[in-house]
Amino acid sequence: MRQVWIPKAGPPEVLELREARDPIPKHGELRIRVAAAGVNFADLMGRMGMYPDLPPMPVVPGYEVAGRVDAVGDGVESDWVGRDVLALTRFGGYSDAVCVPEAQVSTRPEGFSAEEAAAIPVNYLTAWQLLFVMGSLHPGETVLVHSAGGGVGIAAIQLAKHFGARVFGTASAGKHDRLKALGVDACIDYTREDFETRVRELTHGRGVELVLDAVGGPSFKKSYRSLAPTGRLGMFGLSAAATGKKRSLLRALGPVLQTFNLRFAPRGLMDANKGVFGVNVGHLWDETDRVNAWMERLLALAEQGVVKPIVDRTFPLERAAEAHHYLQDRKNFGKVLLTA
Ligand SMILES: NC(=O)c1ccc[n+]([C@@H]2O[C@H](COP(=O)([O-])OP(=O)(O)OC[C@H]3O[C@@H](n4cnc5c(N)ncnc54)[C@H](OP(=O)(O)O)[C@@H]3O)[C@@H](O)[C@H]2O)c1
Repeated sequence: MRQVWIPKAGPPEVLELREARDPIPKHGELRIRVAAAGVNFADLMGRMGMYPDLPPMPVVPGYEVAGRVDAVGDGVESDWVGRDVLALTRFGGYSDAVCVPEAQVSTRPEGFSAEEAAAIPVNYLTAWQLLFVMGSLHPGETVLVHSAGGGVGIAAIQLAKHFGARVFGTASAGKHDRLKALGVDACIDYTREDFETRVRELTHGRGVELVLDAVGGPSFKKSYRSLAPTGRLGMFGLSAAATGKKRSLLRALGPVLQTFNLRFAPRGLMDANKGVFGVNVGHLWDETDRVNAWMERLLALAEQGVVKPIVDRTFPLERAAEAHHYLQDRKNFGKVLLTA
């Protein structure tokens, strides 16, 4: 098999394609011949040495794949073999073959390509948890989605619009027309305008009921201030710390300190009637039943045409470095994938 490794922290060019023997599925596992693997922002942070969840280097990153099952381990029904599937991988997804516990594998929805299927797990599970599990979004409420043109952003827009919410999105200006076509009610070019001021204008001073923020740094505070009474802030990332393509602790220090020094005092939350919460889907490996139940709902919505991943670009495994550049240069509208 072929795999993309991060041998050491650095710019995208550190990524290395290596050959290895095919893995043998252990008890309870299936082996997937990977057709497409998701590229996530966490992979970029991991490559820069700024993602504490990544196992020690050298490591094969990758949280999600789609492909066909070609072997099963003990304890797994043989009728999985030959089935088209998608799966969450606890790293190792940047490969053309990977073994995954059965509980993390689902059958690919009818009519979906492998590329579309690989774009579902991380983005849509994250959006689901943010919007409905923890964000308690209700029809008629307004949600502000940061990085609206990204993988999680588009997933959140599709789900929130389907459930009858109003959506504001921040993104660079070149993405606004495509966001409006997805039903976004107001687009904010965060590079030119202050999103907090714009939210106040758009809501006549009231604020929004929910904000999804993975930008972090100064953004969390501003997002919190953009909440209406009873509003909730969902924090789930720190893109602002990715200030270059190599690890620079000095450059990242500002956003990191601004994020981790943030205090939400109980008294302030009570008096303002606001809530804050955090999401990290990558820390829910022991909550398989719950995550699988969310996945089932998402796959049903995929069959109905509600969940419709937008695949922006695919790069072959050997061009993984270009995929990282593309995402980090903010060029993507939707999902970036590696193909085997
Ligand atoms: N906690 C979790 O479970 C979880 C799961 C998935 C993702 N996340 C987080 O969610 C965020 C989005 O992830 P994603 O994989 O869907 O990526 P993405 O949003 O598809 O790609 C990055 C996009 O983010 C925007 N962006 C904002 N600040 C940026 C910065 N400093 N550097 C580069 N791009 C920036 C850019 O678009 P514009 O400039 O047009 O806005 C860019 O196109 C990341 O912070 C990621 O770590 C968290």
